[in-house]
Amino acid sequence: MLTDESTSTKFIIVSQNIVPDVAIEDPELTVSLPKSHTAFTGIDALTHAIEAFGSVKSYSVTDEFARDAMRRITDSLVPAWANGEDIEARTEMMIGQFKAGKAFGNSSVALVHGMARPLGAQLHLPHGLANGLILPYVVEFSQMTKPAKYAEVARILDAADAHEPDRVAARKAADGIEALCEDISLTDYLDDFGEVPSREEYLELVPEMTQDAFDSGSPDNNPRKPTHDELEALFVRVYDDALAPDSRRRS
Ligand SMILES: [Fe+2]
Repeated sequence: MLTDESTSTKFIIVSQNIVPDVAIEDPELTVSLPKSHTAFTGIDALTHAIEAFGSVKSYSVTDEFARDAMRRITDSLVPAWANGEDIEARTEMMIGQFKAGKAFGNSSVALVHGMARPLGAQLHLPHGLANGLILPYVVEFSQMTKPAKYAEVARILDAADAHEPDRVAARKAADGIEALCEDISLTDYLDDFGEVPSREEYLELVPEMTQDAFDSGSPDNNPRKPTHDELEALFVRVYDDALAPDSRRRS
């Protein structure tokens, strides 16, 4: 991942030449990871799983990886965040992120990642934090296109019951994500990255962030493809609901 500070854009290099031959995934190496970065990377992994699950490129094999990842992350992110030395939770998170990686590596990420890159680049926010701010709104926006899948997300997150119809349960997926973000105090970490721009300053960035999000290609993988106006409105919603100092998710 590269950040071009002159244009406030982030982009990714993908090549066989940077894929390791062997990766050692040792949960003990994560014990000293600060709480903030346990929160950011954990929500990033959850975003990978949810986006892979909803992606237009998803299929049975990637779905199995995504489901298992969502379950492990839902069960283990809060304990891993609350006590970094909980090796069982760290292990579950490591397996969860690995499976989420297998899922999105084969079915791709989507609109959340497309929006998180420009938002993170413009506001100098870590990737996982940007994802966690955006994820509930994109899930809310997308859920009606694949109600059975988003109902499953809601049930895994314990935000809906098994007996609820899919269309009703799917609408609760965003609430489940918000609750998990709240359990790890995600929006409190915004204070670590300086002041958020004023609403007027932010609105000036929205057209450019919208264009950068479309240019990333990630929105094309989303089950509901946003129009230009819808994507702009999603960026504004993120500000009003999660970024503004007096917003609902920060107070
Ligand atoms: Fe990511």
